[in-house]
Amino acid sequence: MPTPKHPESAAITIFGARGDLTQRKLIPALYNLYLDGHLPEKFAIFCVDFVTIGEQEYRDEMLKGVNEFSRSGKAGPNTWAGFAKRVQYIQGDFQQDVTYTTLRSKIKEFEQGKGIRMFYFAVAPRFIEVISDELCKNKLCTIDTHHRVVVEKPFGTDLASARKLNRYLSSRFQEKQIFHIDHYLGKEMVQNILAFRFANHIFDPLWNKDFIDHVEISVAEEVSVGKRGGYYDTSGALRDMIQNHLLQLLCIIAMDCPKAYEAEAIRDSKVKVLKNIRMMTDKEVFTNVVRGQYTQGEVQGEQRVAYREEPNVSPESNTETFVAARLFIDNSRWKGVPFFLRTGKSMPRQSSVIMVQFKESPNAIFKDNNVPNRLVISIQPELEIGLVFESKVPGLHMQLVPVKMNFMYTDNYSQSLPEAYETLLLDVLEGDATSFMRTDQIEAAWKVVMPILDAWKASPSKQLRFYPAGTWGPSEADSLLKPHAKDWYKLEAPPRVTQNMKSIE
Ligand code: BG6
Repeated sequence: MPTPKHPESAAITIFGARGDLTQRKLIPALYNLYLDGHLPEKFAIFCVDFVTIGEQEYRDEMLKGVNEFSRSGKAGPNTWAGFAKRVQYIQGDFQQDVTYTTLRSKIKEFEQGKGIRMFYFAVAPRFIEVISDELCKNKLCTIDTHHRVVVEKPFGTDLASARKLNRYLSSRFQEKQIFHIDHYLGKEMVQNILAFRFANHIFDPLWNKDFIDHVEISVAEEVSVGKRGGYYDTSGALRDMIQNHLLQLLCIIAMDCPKAYEAEAIRDSKVKVLKNIRMMTDKEVFTNVVRGQYTQGEVQGEQRVAYREEPNVSPESNTETFVAARLFIDNSRWKGVPFFLRTGKSMPRQSSVIMVQFKESPNAIFKDNNVPNRLVISIQPELEIGLVFESKVPGLHMQLVPVKMNFMYTDNYSQSLPEAYETLLLDVLEGDATSFMRTDQIEAAWKVVMPILDAWKASPSKQLRFYPAGTWGPSEADSLLKPHAKDWYKLEAPPRVTQNMKSIE
């Protein structure tokens, strides 16, 4: 693999500089990249937003964000001072020309020769078009692969709006300049799945319908919608999580080996998976997808109000905060293997896990050999890969019990892991689009969820199930698994063990 090119200088512009994403994720990520020496010697961060606020006050706000949210803890005063002096606040309306002329003169003043220009759209979707126009009009982002725009989800609200947005962006920038961010693709364990699958030949022959019974992909969140009701009530879990994060995880698990570890080859393989997902009819939507909404309950000892009582949520809302779906990939590798996807808010704990359930052994020579193998990939908060297999209980008789062989990051590595946004921001600076979504991928993912959105739109409250906050979702989600399993893989916190092999009974 060619080593990505480390840029000599970078002018980073963030639109939406006073937003939550900037304070909680982007600035802490850039700060950590700086701290670890990954940013070019010469860099500047131009932070653009509507609000009038002094530069020092803005920097102080960002310092608060770093102190609270950065994985490296509180910023040291000297390092922060070195970083903060590169942060400039530009008060400006995204729709006014003058904002861009100011930005242009600041970038020109900063640049000596050719460097990277990154424009990060941390803004509501309605501003993307006007900002793109202005960037082109003011020659801030020209047809030049050194000039890059980073677009955050949501990439549209359905297939038609995603296509419209994509057409708009492609008429202004080349595909190579557009980085559609899905932060799940920057997560350490998600990136490791590629290595696990394609650098270890032993799994390859098993990775198909002959050996795998089914796959479960669960992304459970402890958080509720909190202050995001305004956005979430028009979105719901299908658009917010399944269309992007969970389908991306599915692609990584199900894709064929790409021709190379390289952006286009990897994205080609992923698109093929999405295009082979079987489309559901209206009727099938109600037998293959379960939607739920949380009611009042308790999560980790904290009382939670019902979704319908959250701020900025309609009291009659039918928006789903939970989705479980059964999908099939109609290709020769996966024919007949169900992929079960599940995500929800206000669940008992945060946990993202992919569980690959292998088929039963055809060798029925042991009378109690009835637990088929499982591979468990924990993405967060634990980072682990565990293989469950049958083993003899020590003793005088041949008695079997399933045990788990575990690879844990905490046991193997001592360094602190980069946050997804660190990895992805550095990728943008280095021009590496491997972990970003290509336009056709986004559209293919929308095509998968459109039949579900359409069926729900036509029958807004049909089979909307309710689950108390603090539970694992409606019980109907278990029925989806039949006859492959009785219930979903349990996402409870694992018992802490000292040895790396332990009976799981
Ligand atoms: C975002 C969704 O894309 O991902 C949020 O909009 C969700 O609703 C978040 O909470 C989950 O990300 P993570 O990294 O906390 O699992």
